Amino acid sequence: MLSYAQCIGYPDDTGFHSPVFRKKFTLPKRAKKATLIITSLGTYYATINGKRVGNFILAPGCTSIERVQSQTYDIKDLLSLENTIEVTLSKGWFAGRLNSRNREERGVNYEALLCLLEIDCGDGLKLTIPSDQSWECALSKITFSDIYDGEHFDATYEPTFRHCVLKEFPCYIEDQQGEIIKEQETIFAHKIFKTPKGETVIDFNQNLTGYFEVFANAKAGDKISFSFAEVLDKDGNFYNENYRSAKSEFIYTCHDGLNVYKPKLTFFGFRYIRVNSFPCDVTLDSVKAIVVHSDMERTGYLNSSSPLLNKLFSNIIWGQKGNFLDIPTDCPQRDERMGWTGDAQVFIRTASYNYNVNKFFTKWIEDMCFDQNPDGSIPFIIPQFWSYSGGSAAWSDAITICPYQLYLTYGNKKVLKRTLPCMIKYVDHIGKITKTKYLWQGCWHFGDWLGLDAPAGSYEGSSNKDFIASVYYYYSTALTAKAIKIAKASGYKKYRELADKILAKIKETYKEYKTQTECALALYFGVTDNKKAVAKQLAKMIKDNGTRLQTGFVGTPYLLHALSENGYCELAYDLLLQEEFPSWLYSVKQGATTIWEHWDGVNDKGEFWSKDMNSFNHYAYGSVADWVYTVACGIKTVEEKPGFEEIIIAPKPTKKLNHLSAKIETVNGTVSSAWYKEGDSFRYEIEIPTKATVIIGDKAYNLTKGKYVF
Ligand code: BGC
Repeated sequence: MLSYAQCIGYPDDTGFHSPVFRKKFTLPKRAKKATLIITSLGTYYATINGKRVGNFILAPGCTSIERVQSQTYDIKDLLSLENTIEVTLSKGWFAGRLNSRNREERGVNYEALLCLLEIDCGDGLKLTIPSDQSWECALSKITFSDIYDGEHFDATYEPTFRHCVLKEFPCYIEDQQGEIIKEQETIFAHKIFKTPKGETVIDFNQNLTGYFEVFANAKAGDKISFSFAEVLDKDGNFYNENYRSAKSEFIYTCHDGLNVYKPKLTFFGFRYIRVNSFPCDVTLDSVKAIVVHSDMERTGYLNSSSPLLNKLFSNIIWGQKGNFLDIPTDCPQRDERMGWTGDAQVFIRTASYNYNVNKFFTKWIEDMCFDQNPDGSIPFIIPQFWSYSGGSAAWSDAITICPYQLYLTYGNKKVLKRTLPCMIKYVDHIGKITKTKYLWQGCWHFGDWLGLDAPAGSYEGSSNKDFIASVYYYYSTALTAKAIKIAKASGYKKYRELADKILAKIKETYKEYKTQTECALALYFGVTDNKKAVAKQLAKMIKDNGTRLQTGFVGTPYLLHALSENGYCELAYDLLLQEEFPSWLYSVKQGATTIWEHWDGVNDKGEFWSKDMNSFNHYAYGSVADWVYTVACGIKTVEEKPGFEEIIIAPKPTKKLNHLSAKIETVNGTVSSAWYKEGDSFRYEIEIPTKATVIIGDKAYNLTKGKYVF
C-alpha cells in the first residue's frame, strides 16, 4: 500500500535537529475505520491531534540497512473532523552517529517519512492521504537527537513550517516482523545524594535501559540537564567515562509552569542520573525511570536458597531486558550498542528460556541473512552498521546456532528452512578461506575474548584461535547438516560427511590443551577421544587456580557443562557459587544489578578495569543461566521432539544449596523442576506439560503430563 505514498524529507541538512512533518485534513463525517501505514528512515514519533499513535518506541525499529519494517495502526479513535497528523523523525539507527556505513559509505544520512492514511467514513466515503509534497515540515522542538548522544528539547522553540521535498528511499519495505519495543515498567528514584565532588545524583538502584519522565515547575527558558552513569567510582563520585564518546545527555529548555517530559527518540543505559541543572528543588518525585525493551513475554524463572545466586538470576534478566531493543546488543550505554553476533549466540539459549524470543530472534536472523557478505562471511555485528566486517569464528556462527536454538526451544522449523541457504553459504565460505583443509586455520578471529589468561595489554585470551575456529567450523557444519535434514532439503550427506572429516582432522591435529577454554571446548563439542583425561586436566587447572575460572566469551558458556558432563558436577557448582574474583557472584557482591562485561570490571579496591571497554550491562556471561536450567535443574530439550514436545528432566542437585528451582513456560505448557535438600537426600518436585523422561539418580521414569514428587 505504501507504493501510493511518496518519500518526503526536510529540504536542508538537519544535522541532528529532528524535523517534524505535518498534514492537516478535514473529514466529511466521523471515521468508521481508519489506519495509518507508516515507516521512515530514522526513528519516528507520530501523533494525531496531539495524541500519540501506537506505543512502539523507536519505531520503525532497528534493521539491516537494506530493509525497514512498516507498521499499521488503527487510528480511528484519534480522529475528529478537523485533524492534524504530525510525525517527528530522528536519525536514530538508520542515519545516526552509530551508523557510519549509511552516513559515510552510502551517503544516506537524512531522515525521511513514508506513510499513508486510509480512512473509511462509511456510505462509500473513503479517503487516502499519502505522504507527498503537500505535507509541511519544520525543525521541531527536539533540537538534538541521537542514539549515542541523547536528546535536547526546547519547549520555547516555535517551529516554522515550510514545504517538504521528495527523497530517495533506498531500502526494501517489509511488514513489521519483530516484537515492538515498548515501555515496560516504571522505577521510582531510590535516593538522591550529593557526591564528594558536590554533584547531585539520583540513584534508581537498578542499572536499566530506557529513559525517564521528568516533572519540574519552571519559568520559560530555565534548563534541565542530566547526565547518565551505571556506576560510581571508588570515592562515590559520578562516573561515566566508560560511555566513551557517547555523550548520553538530556538537555531541556522549560516553558512557564509545570513541565512534564519523556525523551521520545533515543534511549539511555543508566542507574544514576547526575542533575547538572534543574529549575527547582530535585526530589524523589522529580524523575522516574521508564524501562524500555522489546515486548517479549517472560517465560523463565530461576530461584534458589541463596540470596546471592538469586541476585545473579535477577541480574541476568536485567541484562536481557537492557539489551533486547529490537536487536540483541552488546551493551546499551557506550558508543557501541551493536548487534554483536558472538554475544548473541552464547546467550541465546538462556535468552530463549527467560523470555519468548522466537519472534525477536527470527527478525534479527532475517537481518543477518540480509547482511551476509557476498562471499558468505557473516559480519561480527548485525545489522552491519560499520564498514565491511568479515566476521570471526564464534561470532559469525550465530548464523547456524541462533536458528537452531529457535528450533530447539520453540520447534520453529520455518526459521531453519529460511536460514539454511545462508548457513550453507557460510560453511562453504570457511572451506574456501581456510589455509588447511578440514580445519579453520590462518584467519583472523577475536579468540576467547576477554579471557583472563590474555597476555598483558590484550583483550584476547591465550587459547589457540585456530583450534577455537576449527571447533566452530565443525559445530556449524554439523548444525547445517541437521538443519538440512529437518528442512528435508538436499545435501545432508555432504555436510554430515564434511563434519565428520573436520572432527577427525581436529582430533588428529589438536591433542593437547593448554587453557581452561581449550579443555572446555574439547569436552563440550566432543572433539577429544580422551574425555576422562581432559576433564581431569580441566579440573586440576581450575583447582590450581584457587577454584576459579579464567575463561572469556568463548569458553565461559561451556565451562560448567564440560565439568558436569564429565564427572565434575560439584566443581561446576563450586565455580557457580564462588564469591571471590573472578566469578559470577563476585560482581554480585560488588553490588552489580546487571551482568558485567569483564570479570574484573571493578577490582576489589574499587578501581575500574579501564575506561575503554568496561560495560556494566553486557549479558554474555549471563549465559550461565542455561546451565542452571538444563543441568542443575535438568530441564533438557529433545532434538527430535523440539519445542519441549518431549522433555528430559535430569536434575543434578548439590548439598551446597538447600533449594533450587527452574520453571519455563514452553510452547507446550509449563515445565518445572525443583529440588530441596532434606537431611541426607533430596526431594524433587517436577511438573511436566507433555511427555518426559525423568531421571533421578540412576533411575529413569517415563511420565506423561502431571505433577510429580520424588
Ligand atoms: C563488544 C563485545 C564484542 C566484542 C568483540 C566489544 O567491543 O562490546 O561484546 O563481542 O567487542 O570482540
